Amino acid sequence: MKIAIMGAMPEEIAPILEKLGSYKTIEYAGNRYYEAAYRGVDLVIAYSKIGKVFSALTATTMIEHFGADRLLFSGVAGAISSTLKVGDLIVATKLSQHDLDITAFGHPYGYVPEGAVFVAADKQMIELSKKVASEMGKCVQEGIIATGDQFVANEERKNWIGATFGADALEMEGGSVAVVCDALGVPFFILRAISDAADMDASFSFDEFLQTSAQESAEFVMKMVDQLVS
Ligand code: ADE
Repeated sequence: MKIAIMGAMPEEIAPILEKLGSYKTIEYAGNRYYEAAYRGVDLVIAYSKIGKVFSALTATTMIEHFGADRLLFSGVAGAISSTLKVGDLIVATKLSQHDLDITAFGHPYGYVPEGAVFVAADKQMIELSKKVASEMGKCVQEGIIATGDQFVANEERKNWIGATFGADALEMEGGSVAVVCDALGVPFFILRAISDAADMDASFSFDEFLQTSAQESAEFVMKMVDQLVS
């Protein structure tokens, strides 16, 4: 087993690297990858940089170049659902791309021919997350995550994404990572801690809570890894 742990920003993987303590750094395809042995299992860790293209590149590299056979994503998201508050955790059941639009040709939002509006995350890891949540005494919500190359700081846009995709949270990488993992047959798990409400205060809230929310998410993902390797 080789597990990929991915984030989009340095803050999202820093707590993981800190926990590991020692690791090897490899420069590849314009990014840095960190390899470590953890409880008898190989890990590859990286932050992709923000957005769908960089995250697709990193996920592909972790699988095709580094040989990862499952992928866990840790990071922060903007809340759509009013039940999600800053610091809360959401596990993606399925993901979509909210900015993918060829509706001019009669297709639904988020769809291109031979693709699908939603890509489902690995059911076994979602199940496992319930066990981890109860062991940690944490309340973790499951829901749909919508991804796009846009930091959403607008109530109208956020509500549109919620209504169009039934999404509970939004971010900028999960949907593209999902497409890559699905195409390459690699089980994936996407966890996000809420940093903001994707409204007019989102950028301030994001700046204030990025670090603490990223830490929440990273801690949970490492507990998932502990379960996977045991
Ligand atoms: N990640 C965290 N908050 C976000 C937001 N409001 N829009 C897009 N990605 C985010």
